[in-house]
Amino acid sequence: MDTELLLMVVICLLISTDGLTLEPTELLGVEGRLSVEATDVEMASLDFGGLSRDKPLAVLHPASVNDVVELMSSAYGSARGFTVSARGHGHSINGQAQAANGVVIEMSRLKGSWLRIGELAHSSSSSSSKGGFYVDVWGGELWIDVLRGSLEYGLAPRSWTDYLYLSVGGTLSNAGISGQAFNHGPQISNVYELDVVTGKGELVTCSEDKNSELFHGVLGGLGQFGIITRARIALEPAPQRVRWIRVLYSNFSTFTRDQEYLISLHGEPASQKFDYVEGFVIVDEGLINNWRSSFFSPRNPVKISSIAANGGVLYCLEMTKNYDNTTATTVDQEVEALLKKLDFIPASVFMTDLPYIDFLDRVHKAELKLKSKGLWDVPHPWLNLFVPKSAIEEFDSGVFKGILGNKTSGPILIYPMNKDK
Ligand SMILES: Cc1cc2nc3c(=O)[nH]c(=O)nc-3n(C[C@H](O)[C@H](O)[C@H](O)COP(=O)(O)OP(=O)(O)OC[C@H]3O[C@@H](n4cnc5c(N)ncnc54)[C@H](O)[C@@H]3O)c2cc1C
Ligand SMILES: *[C@@H]1O[C@H](CO)[C@@H](O)[C@H](O)[C@H]1NC(C)=O
Ligand SMILES: *[C@@H]1O[C@H](CO)[C@@H](O)[C@H](O)[C@H]1NC(C)=O
Repeated sequence: MDTELLLMVVICLLISTDGLTLEPTELLGVEGRLSVEATDVEMASLDFGGLSRDKPLAVLHPASVNDVVELMSSAYGSARGFTVSARGHGHSINGQAQAANGVVIEMSRLKGSWLRIGELAHSSSSSSSKGGFYVDVWGGELWIDVLRGSLEYGLAPRSWTDYLYLSVGGTLSNAGISGQAFNHGPQISNVYELDVVTGKGELVTCSEDKNSELFHGVLGGLGQFGIITRARIALEPAPQRVRWIRVLYSNFSTFTRDQEYLISLHGEPASQKFDYVEGFVIVDEGLINNWRSSFFSPRNPVKISSIAANGGVLYCLEMTKNYDNTTATTVDQEVEALLKKLDFIPASVFMTDLPYIDFLDRVHKAELKLKSKGLWDVPHPWLNLFVPKSAIEEFDSGVFKGILGNKTSGPILIYPMNKDK
């Protein structure tokens, strides 16, 4: 069936179910595929949360930016309009990428997708000696592919999410927060420029200096201010390896004090701070069973159950130090100097060492393991909260110890962030 015929089918469908008055010619410019096939519609109504399921009438597989422009113009120009939603990798928790009776744009599988490395014109103003590099990527590109593409040039983005099988447009619509955020800010603070298709179907380039209202609206805008078709992401020289450290606490205030201390070092030279600071709560004897710990299990120096026996809830502070062959000889001393400042349970130091890409892609390893047991595609009623420092003690006693203690086996991450990043 040729594209034109398929489009006609879709338009009839829109008219008959929703009373829309779309002119068939309005969508004929689309080079990609506008599909009403059951498998496409089903796919676009699913997400990682598994809690919400709204079916669109059609799914657009764009072949280019122009297809997104065409679709948005049609939606805007039609008498009653219809909803349009971009879907990156569909890893939302609560239906955020779904479009009930509308059109979902499948962003993550653009054929002949591209990735271009460049250098800012005024890179001398950057503080890093090799600063000013960026990568231009399609909005639906997955971060794992952005990483692989950049590494070919010895470069890498500097701010991450814990999991890389998420799209650029999807995480930039939220924030993109991980253990690097205390240092570099979330991913939305590491973008130089965007191309956005607005609700009127206009393709607009925006940045801090150009159409800045749109730029700041779209970043963290939950997909409500336009479709990101291109993002220009800041890069740094890629580290080669990562020293990855975990230490345990039974005293929550000591744990958060140390976390806060580590992120207060964000302005220090690289040699005097960690590159990543996170942490998690252990409410069962879970570290060994925890889905994120497979990298450490052969090297556990302590029996968790013996520590857990005396108080129930434990806290794990997690840090990394990046290095390459020029700093390999000093990394041990640097790590040791930082650990000396911390007040964790003696002898609870877990350490491992791996290539940079293996560290960044660590959750994928857990994904494969859970998939093989049929435990990945299950409902995920996840919740993210920002808690101010002033209320975190109360949160610990009420939620971690009170509500959750010994009653959950899901991951509970807790990590500190500087508000001004
Ligand atoms: C295993 C796992 C680990 C995670 N870890 C982290 C983490 O460490 N840090 C963190 O910050 N988040 C994390 N997340 C959350 C994740 O960043 C968000 O759920 C993100 O939205 C998922 O990206 P996606 O590409 O799957 O987006 P989708 O679910 O496809 O879309 C999310 C939202 O963005 C919109 N959108 C998608 N693409 C575009 C676009 N091109 N232009 C405009 N809007 C668009 C959608 O309409 C929707 O509103 C994690 C999620 C999972 C499943
Ligand atoms: C936890 O540590 C703080 C000091 O950091 C101390 O005041 C408090 O008594 C400790 N709590 C317990 C239960 O040991
Ligand atoms: C360090 O690594 C880089 C990049 O992999 C390589 O080009 C360089 O030759 C290495 N230098 C030394 C001293 O090993």
